[in-house]
Amino acid sequence: MNAFHYQNGQLYAENTALYDIAENIPTPFYVYSQQGILDHFAAFDGAAKKHLKQALTCFAIKSNANPSVLKLLAQAGAGADIVSGGELLLALKSGIPADKIVFSGVGKTREELTLAVENNIKQINVESEEEALMLDEIAALAGKKAKIALRINPDVDAHTHYKITTGKKENKFGIDWEKARSLYRLFSESKGLQPVGIDVHVGSQLLDLEPFEAAFERAAEIVYSLRDDGIDIRTIDVGGGLGVAYQPIDQAPSPEMYMTLAGRILGNLNCEIVFEPGRFLLAQSAVLVSRVVRVKQTETRRFLVLDAGMNDLIRPAIYEAYHDIAAVKEGINDHSYDVVGPICESSDTFGTDRQLPAMKAGDLVVIKTAGAYGASMASNYNFRPLCAEILVNGSDYAVIRERQTLDDMLALTRSAPWL
Ligand code: LLP
Repeated sequence: MNAFHYQNGQLYAENTALYDIAENIPTPFYVYSQQGILDHFAAFDGAAKKHLKQALTCFAIKSNANPSVLKLLAQAGAGADIVSGGELLLALKSGIPADKIVFSGVGKTREELTLAVENNIKQINVESEEEALMLDEIAALAGKKAKIALRINPDVDAHTHYKITTGKKENKFGIDWEKARSLYRLFSESKGLQPVGIDVHVGSQLLDLEPFEAAFERAAEIVYSLRDDGIDIRTIDVGGGLGVAYQPIDQAPSPEMYMTLAGRILGNLNCEIVFEPGRFLLAQSAVLVSRVVRVKQTETRRFLVLDAGMNDLIRPAIYEAYHDIAAVKEGINDHSYDVVGPICESSDTFGTDRQLPAMKAGDLVVIKTAGAYGASMASNYNFRPLCAEILVNGSDYAVIRERQTLDDMLALTRSAPWL
């Protein structure tokens, strides 16, 4: 499923040489492989449908919010997992039908909940009693019943980076699973709420199936006890989290393994199983292309200074995340570099002691596995523009986001009248 490969000594995305794109577009930029995204979606959604009678794959938009990416996934049949009003509007605009949209998040505002009710989305994953009461009031006023799932905090350790674990009791997410039963009873008697499902999400970049197993089992247990109470649970949303290999030593479970587990534990509950993958669908389908600004040799280190920085790809800086780095021109990896960006922070480091061919100013490198939480987490830090995004389709490519200009970056600023 790797759409990036060397051909005649050059790195290609599908049938397009990255070197050729860089002749026309200023670096840094993200390059996505359309086939890569479609292949990952087919692998995930196909395995879901093979192991479960009813399954829906809702792409977690937070991992990549480019409208062309969303359109592509919408056309392939994906729904969306959204976490803001902005993502809701974007999903609808990109052709994702409202009845395939689930809304997660601990801080949904009154405006966002109203928007969700107005658009009759599939399900709102409620994260607290307080949120449910607000939603009840909004829906009742509109004369509607909002379909809800309670996000259960299953108190499961996801064995992932502490900043992206969500299913432990001490995390801010979800409702204590011991409390859920009485809340379901309460909400099913309310005017504006219709409990239709339950929701669990334990964390992101899970390389191990065991936390999923624990969470699925807890979900199944809750569905049985709710049915005993006469509450008709129709959907089980198991969140996202399936990890990917960022480096050769990572052993990621395949969608087939993950869905076999889901099928075994959740397959006979007569529920639709909703999945919210982000990273699995996008991560491996893009690279960040960057140019070497200079090679800087100090007494002890050799730095490869790139024109991409932590504002373009922040994962290494905030999660100590590993991303493979490779030269666009194939060569023998016999030189060691600390690969850094231009930003004024030591955390602006993409990797230390990375083996690459001998590099010089102007050469191109790629930072791999950058399609998820890359562009979507980019910022203007150091007053640097958001970079371009390119979608490759065979030997064709299109700019799906222009690089920002100085005018774009200043567009919303105003001079204080007294200055
Ligand atoms: N559903 C919910 C409720 C979530 O909170 C998340 C991710 C997902 C689905 C999608 O999870 P995925 O399949 O992508 O693992 N910025 C971090 C990742 C943060 C994930 C937040 N929630 C990173 O770059 O690693």
